[in-house]
Amino acid sequence: MDQLKVTVRTGNYLAVTFITFIVSSVMNLTKEAWGSRLGLILAMAGNSVGLGNFLRFPVQAINNGGGTFIIPYLVCFLLMGIPLLWIEWSMGRFGGRHGHHSTPFILNSMSPRPLWKYIGVFGIFTNIAVAAYYCYIESWTLSYALHSIKGTFSSLSQSSVAAYFDSYTNLSTSFFGIPSEAVFFFIVCVGINTYILSKGLAGIEKVAKIGMPLLVIFGVFLAYKGLTVGTSAVSEQFPLASAWDGLNYLWTPQYDSLLRPGIWLAAAGQIFFTLSVGMGTIHCYAAYIDSKDDIALNASTAGFTNEFVEIVLGSLIVIPIAAGYFGIDWIKENMSFGMAFQTMPFLFNQWGEILASLAGVLWFGLLFFAGITSSLAMGTPWMGFMSDEFGWNKIKGAISFGALVLALGLPCVLFYKYGYFEQYDYWAGTVSLVIFALAETILFAWIFGLDKGWREITTGADIKIPVIFKYIIKYVTPILLIGVFIGALITPVKNNWIDAFKSLSNDGIWPLDGQSLLLQISNTEMYTALHNAVDPLVIESIRNEIFYTNIARLVLLILFVGITTLVYIAHKRRTQEK
Ligand code: ALA
Repeated sequence: MDQLKVTVRTGNYLAVTFITFIVSSVMNLTKEAWGSRLGLILAMAGNSVGLGNFLRFPVQAINNGGGTFIIPYLVCFLLMGIPLLWIEWSMGRFGGRHGHHSTPFILNSMSPRPLWKYIGVFGIFTNIAVAAYYCYIESWTLSYALHSIKGTFSSLSQSSVAAYFDSYTNLSTSFFGIPSEAVFFFIVCVGINTYILSKGLAGIEKVAKIGMPLLVIFGVFLAYKGLTVGTSAVSEQFPLASAWDGLNYLWTPQYDSLLRPGIWLAAAGQIFFTLSVGMGTIHCYAAYIDSKDDIALNASTAGFTNEFVEIVLGSLIVIPIAAGYFGIDWIKENMSFGMAFQTMPFLFNQWGEILASLAGVLWFGLLFFAGITSSLAMGTPWMGFMSDEFGWNKIKGAISFGALVLALGLPCVLFYKYGYFEQYDYWAGTVSLVIFALAETILFAWIFGLDKGWREITTGADIKIPVIFKYIIKYVTPILLIGVFIGALITPVKNNWIDAFKSLSNDGIWPLDGQSLLLQISNTEMYTALHNAVDPLVIESIRNEIFYTNIARLVLLILFVGITTLVYIAHKRRTQEK
């Protein structure tokens, strides 16, 4: 009898174990997927629409001559941006079909050469490094939105609003008694990102569905105000200020820009950053699309949505509002990405107390939604990789991403004034994008082969893509990318290519600018400044800058080597499993 009971219990136990095994296997096999087409497009558009649209675009446009910038910008969008979107969406969908959700093994599935999976490391590295400083800016928007409600800026003069920003980034403001407000909000912001990421694609989709429409509504309201500021001139100092001057400056095309490579470089850089191409996030999102689903129309819709937000909303807020009060000449001299924080709250004050608070909440709220829909995307390649290769679940993946961003981002917060942050932006947010985009275009068009590639782009397509794009992808896009890379490598003094060519032909000398990649690597500009400095305070400050610059680069290098090692281990595991 006892023996029978034991047998029955053992049988029950085995049955339960068997059922648990089947259920967990099925759950493992149930891949993450987008809930709806709308959700996918909004998430992809949210990935692209970011701080770059509202903070970077106006600065690039104004600093590169307004109407001078706009034609190269639009040409770069059509000849590099759109082709790269199609390439990345189709690479992602192709990789997803083979069970890969991050670039190392997506690239590897398109060419068996080992090199490609290591090039794919860029598609994880860039995201972690960019997220580290991006979440910091995102955290400013959160703090500034709350301060707008609290009325912190309501009675401040323009210089006090600017000084507030300096004390914030110098870590000397506190929030309800918590010291170092900047550190506090950064941790909160990383926490929010981590929490949403732990919910997987469903969480990202939900945020995009709420955040994107809100962002557009907030943007339309502010743009309406921007257009109606008219000629309001904040003080007697700027009696001729007019919002329309800002728009005229931006929208009067200057055709001579076509012959200025420096402007092309800036335009291409903006297209990369704003569309999030060359990053690896698009591949990752697209890897969760069904293999028969359209990508041609979806990719174009997401790309054009980004351009609407950038060109229309991005140019109708900061530029006309600031031009309306200070005039276009003031903007040309003072335009910087900090203006969103250092000047806008003061300008909103001109609208009266209640509207100023509302505008502050809308403006910083808009920036927060723009930022978070992009930073969430940056978490997904890492999570996809760790899940595919090491079986990590969403929670583990999200927490580890949050921990990495915190570890890499805290030095950005603490050493902001030493230019630490800018190193991440330059190497991860600028140079890496171009290198990766160039490599993936060569892989897609020349190694995987454009016939196969074109089939990938057009399979399931809901629109007919003009065949000319086949040739653009094969020849024009890579040539432009090579041009951009070489241009960045040897940027001449003041980005003045005409004078540089003259100097080359007359004296055989190419005058490199301190901003060129070649001189950036060797810190030449800083060493020259150190050499010329006499004031001990200046000397100390430059020394600090050199020190933190090198530390930031070392940290990036360690991150890159670390991810490369993980890819190597993953590769070994795969070979052993075979
Ligand atoms: N594409 C994102 C932005 O524009 C990264 O900010």
